[in-house]
Amino acid sequence: PAALRVALLGAGTVGASVARLLGERAELLAARAGRPLELAGVAVRDTGRVRDGVDPALLTDDVEGLVERADLVVEVMGGLEPARGLIERALRRGVPVVTANKQLIAQQGPQLQAVADEHGAGLHYEAAVMAAVPVMAVVGESLAGDEIASISGIVNGSTNYVLDLVARKGVPFEEAVRQAGELGYLEADPTEDLEGLDAAAKIVILARTAWDLPVSMEDVQRQGITGLTDADFEQAAAHGSVIKLVASAWRSAAGGGDRVEVAVRPVALPQDDPLAQAREGTNVLIVEARSAGSLRLQGAGAGGDATASAVLGDIVRAARGR
Ligand code: NDP
Ligand code: HSE
Repeated sequence: PAALRVALLGAGTVGASVARLLGERAELLAARAGRPLELAGVAVRDTGRVRDGVDPALLTDDVEGLVERADLVVEVMGGLEPARGLIERALRRGVPVVTANKQLIAQQGPQLQAVADEHGAGLHYEAAVMAAVPVMAVVGESLAGDEIASISGIVNGSTNYVLDLVARKGVPFEEAVRQAGELGYLEADPTEDLEGLDAAAKIVILARTAWDLPVSMEDVQRQGITGLTDADFEQAAAHGSVIKLVASAWRSAAGGGDRVEVAVRPVALPQDDPLAQAREGTNVLIVEARSAGSLRLQGAGAGGDATASAVLGDIVRAARGR
């Protein structure tokens, strides 16, 4: 069969890993996708900069032209625009889209899904929530026949890395943030991580998927980790607890309605709490469902290759037309 032409939008932490792994795993991916995958081009802002694992001949700053000649679009550039417009353009042509952009999906997901449905194109975003940990598949597909009661977890790798290093190794806060950046865990604007906006976007996407109810970023009761002081860490340690940035969502019948409550906030947890065990960039999600009981999903929630794993899985899904 003819090769599927893949447009890669972005060659940063995630995009460079996707480009490299598309090459390294070409044979395996072709077998799984049912046809060869051909990287048609890689859109970046600065085409003059060399990127590990990316053929310089594929770099382009004509992102719209690249989208026009693709059979599948992978958006890993981040930000709301031009990403939103480019994705919509692809979907309107019936071209499937894979994205890791949690802010965009949290803020515009339902509108983009409507366009995707109207044009019979798949919109896939497993990588947007907890990177390598396949939570969207579990919450959206595997548990589709169950009744989910609550979801809670550590869904941001960089703040977990920072909190872990500060509490366990005594690394100064600013130094831990710098190291998280070096590992590729931080967003282009680190405030999104540190103020809990990244975790908020992820819990919004999960809650919407779990309950099929409207949930927006404005619904999230949100507090990040920048307000934490040395005294907070010392007090937690003195009580044998660990501070974690916990995201949670639960269904509520308060006031006679049927709504979803969503929150992101630092919580002091006992050492033996499953969420307290998460080290460095690890993410953990606990899903409570009526028949399934309690499920715990854990793994690498940030970083180039971990995120690329989920992107590649979605590429295969999209290529199979699922
Ligand atoms: P980076 O900032 O490392 O990379 C962004 C890439 O997009 C760069 O190559 C940049 O080009 C390119 N780009 C940005 N704007 C434009 C534009 N207008 N036109 C063309 N190219 C553009 O980001 P990440 O790889 O870390 O993240 C990408 C996305 O994946 C984000 O949505 C992020 O939230 C998400 N994500 C990231 C994870 C991670 O661990 N890093 C994990 C899960 C999701 P140039 O290089 O020239 O500047
Ligand atoms: N900045 C994000 C994090 C990347 O730290 O979890 C993964 O989504």
